[in-house]
Amino acid sequence: MPQTIIAANWKMNGTHDSIQQLITHIKQGFNPFPQHEIIIIPPFVYLDFCRQLLNNSPIKLGAQNVSQFGVGAYTGEIAAVMLSDNHCSYVLIGHSERRSVFNENNDIIKQKLMRAKEQGLKPILCVGENLEQRQQGLTEHVILSQLQAILDLTGTDAVLQDAVLAYEPVWAIGTGQTATPDQAQQIHALIRNTIAKADPLLAKEIPIIYGGSVKANNAQQLFAMPDINGFLVGGASLIAEEFLTICKVAE
Ligand code: PGA
Repeated sequence: MPQTIIAANWKMNGTHDSIQQLITHIKQGFNPFPQHEIIIIPPFVYLDFCRQLLNNSPIKLGAQNVSQFGVGAYTGEIAAVMLSDNHCSYVLIGHSERRSVFNENNDIIKQKLMRAKEQGLKPILCVGENLEQRQQGLTEHVILSQLQAILDLTGTDAVLQDAVLAYEPVWAIGTGQTATPDQAQQIHALIRNTIAKADPLLAKEIPIIYGGSVKANNAQQLFAMPDINGFLVGGASLIAEEFLTICKVAE
């Protein structure tokens, strides 16, 4: 059985004050559930602050991005070793905002994945189609090509061991328009079946989580789907009550 994962992607939001309030609230209302992994993914500059606030909590820390390079003369970049040095357990790779706004292609994503693995960070690898691609009937093609780029890496089993896959239809991110449970399940099953062709055991174990306008009021129906193992939550993760309800749904 894949582990259930609920990850809070705060994106470029937060201040010391708002983060202190949010984490305090989450810690108060949070029910640790043995088989579940709850992850907070703040902007880089607040990682250490979050670590201090989360002290003694089972909630894990993740980063929103990682450099494809090792340490050195790369102004403005953050190396994987710095993330593990800052107690990160997870890192988002291939988020659609990175792919579309920052032009990250499959090659860059592969390099980032390797860097993360070298440092023992668990990647949350995001795939997803945009609206135009869905309307043109290209959804499966897009997902498969994003996934195949990773599966083509040598030692895939090692690369995807401990990884989390996130299906995030771009048209559902931040739009309030969620994929229906059936739409999401169809792609989650496609992802699991594709991984199964490369490694049947890994396919059974790898968590595949859904992201794209997940809210307290739609999480339950999505989580009822057999191949949805949790959520990558953006906007709703900035509101403690919403996030706590989403965590409860997955218990
Ligand atoms: P959203 O973002 O929940 O605000 O749609 C999800 C994500 O981009 O990770």
